[in-house]
Amino acid sequence: MLLYLLQRPKPEQVRGERWLVTPDAIRRTREIATPLGNLPEQIDHTDFRQTETGRIPFRSQWSRADYRVTYTVTSEEKTVEATRKNIKVLQGMPESQIFPAMNVLAQGIGVHCDYCHVRRDNKWIWDSEEKPAKHVGREMIRMMLELNRTKFKGDVALTCYSCHRGSTSVARVVPLPPRDPTKVPPPDPLPSAAELLQRLATATGDASKPLRMMGRLESASRTGSITIEVKPPQDVQLSFNGETKKADGALLDRARAIYAPDKVRVTAAALKVVRADRIGDREVWVANAGTTSYFFDKHSGLLLRRLETPEESMLGPLQEQADFDDYRDAGGVRMPFVITTSDGAPYTTAVRRFSEIR
Ligand code: HEC
Ligand code: HEC
Repeated sequence: MLLYLLQRPKPEQVRGERWLVTPDAIRRTREIATPLGNLPEQIDHTDFRQTETGRIPFRSQWSRADYRVTYTVTSEEKTVEATRKNIKVLQGMPESQIFPAMNVLAQGIGVHCDYCHVRRDNKWIWDSEEKPAKHVGREMIRMMLELNRTKFKGDVALTCYSCHRGSTSVARVVPLPPRDPTKVPPPDPLPSAAELLQRLATATGDASKPLRMMGRLESASRTGSITIEVKPPQDVQLSFNGETKKADGALLDRARAIYAPDKVRVTAAALKVVRADRIGDREVWVANAGTTSYFFDKHSGLLLRRLETPEESMLGPLQEQADFDDYRDAGGVRMPFVITTSDGAPYTTAVRRFSEIR
C-alpha cells in the first residue's frame, strides 16, 4: 500500500508538485492534468513510527478533489492469512477488517453469513468449506480482485454491490418500455459550497445554545433511555440508562458530528459539491470534505445525512452513516428528533428518538 502511494506518476501527468515536510508529517500536493481540467491531489503521511526498516508513516491519507481515501498502513497488524485457517484469496487483508468486510460482502448480495458459512451447535465454523455457496463466493471475490487490479488500476472500483445491488440474482435485461434519454431534463446546476453552508446556518438557527436532548436508543444489541447534553462550542455529555460520561477524544468528535446543532464544521473551501441525489423521496445535494460526505436537503437546506469512510478494504469501503430526520424547532434551533446511525453490520444500526430537546 505504501509503495503504491509513493509511486510517482509520469512527469507529463504532473503539473506542479509541492512537498511540505515537518518532523511528524509529510504533505505532498500536486495537480494531475485530465481532459476535464487539472485535478488537485494531496497525500498526507502522518503517525510516523520507528520500525526495522526505518521511520515510516502508519497513516497515509490520499485525497483528490472528487474523493478521499484513508489508507491506514498496518505493518504491525497481522493479516488474515496469518490469523485465519482457510484464506485463499483475501491475503493481505488486516485481521481487524475481516468481519466488517464480510458484512459489506453479505449486504452486497443481500444474504446472511449462513448463506456461505456453517453454524453448528450455535457456533460458527468460519473456515469450513461445506457450503457450495462459499466456493461460488470465493470465485466471485477472485474475479472482482482480478478486474480491479487489471482493469481499474488497483482501485476498488468494482464491489459485489456493483453487479448484485443487494440481491443474489444479477439483472441482465433493461426494463421495457425504454426511457427516452433525450427527454430527460438536464440536471440543475450545482450550488456552491458557500451557498449550502449559508443555507444550512440560516435553517439551523442559533447553534450556540446549550441543549439537553432526552429520548430512547434502540438497536439489536442494546436499548435504553438516553440524555445528551450539548454545550457549544465543545462539550458533549452522554448518558445511557442513567450512566453518564463526558465525551472526549474520538468519541467527542463523533458525538459532536451526530448531536451538535452545527454538524458541518468545515469551511466552504474544504467542501466540494459533487452531485444531486435522493434520500427516500427527498432531494439532496451531496458535498464531500475529506472522507466525509454531507447530504443537504435541497428544499429546507438542513443536513439529512453524514456518511463517513474511515477505511477502505479489499471488498469495498467500510462506511459509517448518520441519518437525521424529523427536524423540529427546539427553542430557536432546528434539531433532528430522530437520529439513526449504521455501518455494514445489521445489528449495529441504532435509532435514537428524542421526546424532548430544550
Ligand atoms: C457469498 C459467500 C459468503 C458470505 C455471504 C460470507 N462469507 Fe465469509 N468467507 C467467504 C469466503 C469465500 C471466505 C474465504 C476467503 C478466502 O479464501 O480468502 C470467507 C472467509 C471468512 C472468514 C475467515 C474464515 C477462515 O478462518 O479462514 C470469516 C471469519 C468470515 N468469512 C466471516 C463472515 C461473516 C461474519 C459473514 C456474514 C456477515 C460472512 N463471512 C459472509 C464467503 C462468504
Ligand atoms: C462483474 C459483476 C459481478 C460482480 C462484481 C460480482 N458478481 Fe456475483 N454474480 C455475477 C453474475 C453475472 C452471476 C450469475 C448470475 C446467474 O447465473 O444468474 C453471479 C452469481 C453469484 C452468486 C450465485 C447466486 C445464485 O443464486 O446462485 C453468488 C453467491 C455471488 N455471485 C456472489 C458474489 C459476491 C460475494 C461478490 C463480491 C465478492 C460478487 N458476486 C461479485 C456477477 C457479479
